[in-house]
Amino acid sequence: MTEYPVYRGRRLRDGSAVRSLVRETRLSPEQTLLPLFVEAGEGIRIEVPSMPGVYRSSVEGILEDAREAMELGVGGVILFGIPETKDDEGSGAWAEDGVVQTAVRELKAELPELLVATDVCLCEYTSHGHCGVLEGNGVLNDPTLELLARTALSHARAGADIVAPSDMMDGRVGAIRQALDGAGFPQLPIMSYAVKYASAFYGPFRDAADSTPLLGDRRGYQMDPANAEEALREVWADLEEGADIVMVKPALAYLDIIRRVKDEVEVPVAAYHVSGEYAAIMAAVERGWLGDEAMEEALLSIRRAGADIVISYWAREFARRC
Ligand code: PBG
Repeated sequence: MTEYPVYRGRRLRDGSAVRSLVRETRLSPEQTLLPLFVEAGEGIRIEVPSMPGVYRSSVEGILEDAREAMELGVGGVILFGIPETKDDEGSGAWAEDGVVQTAVRELKAELPELLVATDVCLCEYTSHGHCGVLEGNGVLNDPTLELLARTALSHARAGADIVAPSDMMDGRVGAIRQALDGAGFPQLPIMSYAVKYASAFYGPFRDAADSTPLLGDRRGYQMDPANAEEALREVWADLEEGADIVMVKPALAYLDIIRRVKDEVEVPVAAYHVSGEYAAIMAAVERGWLGDEAMEEALLSIRRAGADIVISYWAREFARRC
């Protein structure tokens, strides 16, 4: 006669072997991407104050970071550029000898096996800090598309393996796809930041990349954190324009959105554990208020929510522990 309780969940929790056997979610380093900030110049390596362990580096430093990440099994890197000078249009974004283009060339020459993705946006290159052509306090959508397409194409020519537009202009995936196809890059995948919220969690990134808008904010193009259905519209629009991978950003505050997107579409979904989400955990770890397993738990939860690819400033550290 079986006595109550029949179900004893603890049978599968006890003992590390059985616990591991029935584990439902696994995150492996090869499913992660490490963001790197490339700065123009030489011999530069500055730790971002609000992001311990994250540096703005000139190309030599980037090569070192990328090599280490690759050797540890991290899936790849995603590059952000910090140019020497900025202008109204953001022309540094598409310069053939621009900071990202140069870094991509060197990375692909030194580490041909490394997957190199590039962030395609103008905000790090414009003097006003907005993601496109500014008129008054607003960003003009359609004139921006051509500049983004030019930028993506210059990354493709440098040898990028994936381009990742993060600007949130309407129609940019289509414009980039067309430019790539027309220039002989029909095979180059686009990972679109399809669902990008106007989030307070980008603060440390903007300090790092020096890209805070001088006037106004990004609410004219980035999404309202209150909206979920809109996320699905954005995903479908980008897929119809030719996106290969769709991204949700931020990640931890939007786990429900990651799940909804993953349930809705049958393409790889990426999620970006952004600078502020990283900084919050790191700050607590530094104070001894949290153990750094909290970061592992956060990244695992993003994977459990449905992300196939997790973008994390902690990707290298995570790989080291696997
Ligand atoms: C560029 C861009 C941003 C981030 C990624 N690409 C900043 C922004 O939109 O203000 C944020 C990444 C992070 O916070 O880690 N548009």
